[in-house]
Amino acid sequence: MSKTVSFISRNFGKYNPASLASYEYIGGFTALRKALSMDGEAIAQVLSDNGVQGRGGAAYDMGRKWKQAREVQAPHKCVVCNADEGEPGTFKDRELLRNDPFQLLEGMIIAGWSVGADNGYIYMRGEYSHLRPQLLSAIKQCEEKGYLGDNILGSGFSYRIHLYSGAGAYVCGEGSALCESLEGHSGRPRMKPPFIKQCGAFHLPTCVNNVESLSLVPPLLLDTEGFYKSQGTPDCPGTKMISVCGNVKNPGVFEVPFGITLREIIYDLAGGIEDGHQLQLVQLGGASGRLASPAQLDTRYTYKDMKAADLTAIGSGAVLVVDERTSIIGFLRITQQFFFHESCGQCTPCREGNRHIRMLLDKVAAGTHTEEDIKLMEKYARIMSTASMCGLGETAQSALLSAMKRFPEVFAIKKEVAVR
Ligand SMILES: Cc1cc2nc3c(=O)[nH]c(=O)nc-3n(C[C@H](O)[C@H](O)[C@H](O)COP(=O)(O)O)c2cc1C
Ligand code: SF4
Repeated sequence: MSKTVSFISRNFGKYNPASLASYEYIGGFTALRKALSMDGEAIAQVLSDNGVQGRGGAAYDMGRKWKQAREVQAPHKCVVCNADEGEPGTFKDRELLRNDPFQLLEGMIIAGWSVGADNGYIYMRGEYSHLRPQLLSAIKQCEEKGYLGDNILGSGFSYRIHLYSGAGAYVCGEGSALCESLEGHSGRPRMKPPFIKQCGAFHLPTCVNNVESLSLVPPLLLDTEGFYKSQGTPDCPGTKMISVCGNVKNPGVFEVPFGITLREIIYDLAGGIEDGHQLQLVQLGGASGRLASPAQLDTRYTYKDMKAADLTAIGSGAVLVVDERTSIIGFLRITQQFFFHESCGQCTPCREGNRHIRMLLDKVAAGTHTEEDIKLMEKYARIMSTASMCGLGETAQSALLSAMKRFPEVFAIKKEVAVR
């Protein structure tokens, strides 16, 4: 199996991302022309036939999402491109936005046609403000050339794309918080139901997809030879953009076939651990992901294999490599501090749980913790994962719980503490 592939990233370096003419020269917008000759349902079926799962973290069946969005009857609907990319260690969407903005726009227009939307919104994280001028210019060039606006390419389909920037809150990547933020409100997740597919941005039925998910659509529609499906494994076909960072010699963004092992990602693609140090752990899918131990390096990077290895998270595609110089408890404290800071505070398990776990980790770091503290920490973590209102609180303790299983020695009681 080849270790890297060019499918979603097939255009990187092949055209000038500032120029629509340059994109057209390499075949850009052929997929849109094809899509406009197809029924929206048939387009969603292409996603289903290829087993595409959304790339924003939740791995929701993308063909199913588009079919559900189509079924909602409403005079206006919208598509939202989630470019918030707030998950620590994740930066593959940035590369898609930077190197191939037109492929993303083409994917969004096809999404609009398939689900029956008349507006598309890109919600981009504030830290990517340097990419705004290029993206705004790309939208304008598409309007001038008739790929956006009224009666696109004479099809009778009218659709516009708008660019919004977030202000740097991690929780705004959650679909309903993102919709709140788009509307100009404070970005807090909404109670569900209603789900955003029924009532999302501006109270319209909304189909939210990640940058990578939408960027995958144009090459997939043109893939008549079945290249995408020939990659990966029978259970998990296709390719995935990943970002590898931390203590590796060669951090970066790679497109890999599903089924590659963690060992191949770390040692063959990212060059192994820097300066002759030893691998200690790998965090998968961002700060909300579990920790893998070196013994799990031969786990294959598929949804099923990762789940079987109790790692669950391909998530956002982040692979954070940590060597023996980092204290695991220190790492967990920073993670919990991050979630404490990013919690929107609406619900008690998340608002208080993150704070209490962080305080208990302070005791572990100081070596003053007791058996009771460890039990409490585990209890809070379990309550948070079941009783929080959104994915932030549900997954904020993934790293902690997996560390308790895989690195129990770092929680060992160091000395007897008198209980009064
Ligand atoms: C706290 C939180 C943060 C999230 N951040 C992002 C993000 O930055 N980008 C993203 O695409 N999805 C993010 N998601 C997932 C989105 O809610 C949603 O599932 C995704 O954008 C849907 O796109 P997909 O189906 O193409 O994966 C986040 C979810 C949660 C709970
Ligand atoms: S889980 Fe956390 S981030 Fe989500 S709604 Fe509750 S307090 Fe807000």
